[in-house]
Amino acid sequence: MTVSIGLIGCGGISRAHVRGYLAVPDVAAVVAVADIDPASARERAAQAGGARVFADYRRMLEDGGIDAVDICLPHHLHADAVIAAAKAGKHILIEKPLCLTAAEAEQIADAVQACGVTLMCAHDQLTLPAVARAKELITSGALGRVYELRATDAFFNDFDPATAGWRAHTATSGGGELIDTGYHPTYLLLHLAGSRPAEVTAMLSNHRLGFMEGEDSARVLVRFEDGAVGEIATSWAYDPAPFTGKFSVVGELGSLWSDGTTLCHRARGEATTTTEFPHVDTHPAVCADFAARIRDGARPLHTEREGTDVLEVILAAYRSAAERRTVAVDE
Ligand SMILES: NC(=O)c1ccc[n+]([C@@H]2O[C@H](COP(=O)([O-])OP(=O)(O)OC[C@H]3O[C@@H](n4cnc5c(N)ncnc54)[C@H](O)[C@@H]3O)[C@@H](O)[C@H]2O)c1
Repeated sequence: MTVSIGLIGCGGISRAHVRGYLAVPDVAAVVAVADIDPASARERAAQAGGARVFADYRRMLEDGGIDAVDICLPHHLHADAVIAAAKAGKHILIEKPLCLTAAEAEQIADAVQACGVTLMCAHDQLTLPAVARAKELITSGALGRVYELRATDAFFNDFDPATAGWRAHTATSGGGELIDTGYHPTYLLLHLAGSRPAEVTAMLSNHRLGFMEGEDSARVLVRFEDGAVGEIATSWAYDPAPFTGKFSVVGELGSLWSDGTTLCHRARGEATTTTEFPHVDTHPAVCADFAARIRDGARPLHTEREGTDVLEVILAAYRSAAERRTVAVDE
């Protein structure tokens, strides 16, 4: 069976998504696209090899001949599109963030469950083999009890204020950099931790991108229920210092660290084992994974449940920064 995909939102990231489906023609085909901007829709339809074009995604849900949607919209439009797709009986791949509020997340969970569809969060960095191997090592007990985790995603973003659009405004982005690029190290941290996040302390900064209403950088500390402490470092203001890895985990028996492609593991007192993994283009990879899971009826690695956990940590971080205190995630 080939999964027929309808793309909702044909802007920047959707190009990589279409590339992902084109790479697995036996599994998926993008048969329809929807965007309020006709030029973007036409361009993406052509890239997909001649998909039908819709201006209104609700029409596409009714009439597009699709099994699933792939939602690549500005953040404030995520919840409505997810719920509409679920009610139309379509499986859903949603770009990050799942949505913007806890109330929206609850409505999404209700709709997905009531309609019996599968929702997958496009947490693309989970497709990195170094992440999967790190998770295996942690789960196998190779590090013993986990004490500390770190996850980083930072880069010098040369945004043009004139074209930053919805990303520069809190009402449409949901905050600033943390709920955008900062979403990646947050889901990575929660994925590796394997314990539920309990409390959060955050500091937000605007170092350089003063035209943004929200932060351009964030530091977030997360205490997990098992006592482990995680740190998220994320920014659009600067490239990270050399030797800053993508993630690291320290436990009672040793540590592991990675730049995303190389994974190092050192049991305490022993030599470091280094494993090099092949480069993975994560955005296409997550789309191919979505299509395969829909075809096979398999649970995605991260559904609305994990997406809600990530959102809750980010919302707690915003509360913590606003109120200058440590906050409970479920407060
Ligand atoms: N995983 C990643 O690393 C990554 C990278 C970039 C973007 N993203 C995510 O992808 C999503 C889209 O980001 P982008 O950079 O492609 O944004 P974008 O602004 O380039 O594209 C958004 C598209 O949505 C269209 N649109 C707006 N309102 C619409 C509506 N009502 N119906 C249909 N189309 C509508 C716009 O015309 C535009 O073409 C966001 O959630 C973003 O966070 C993820």
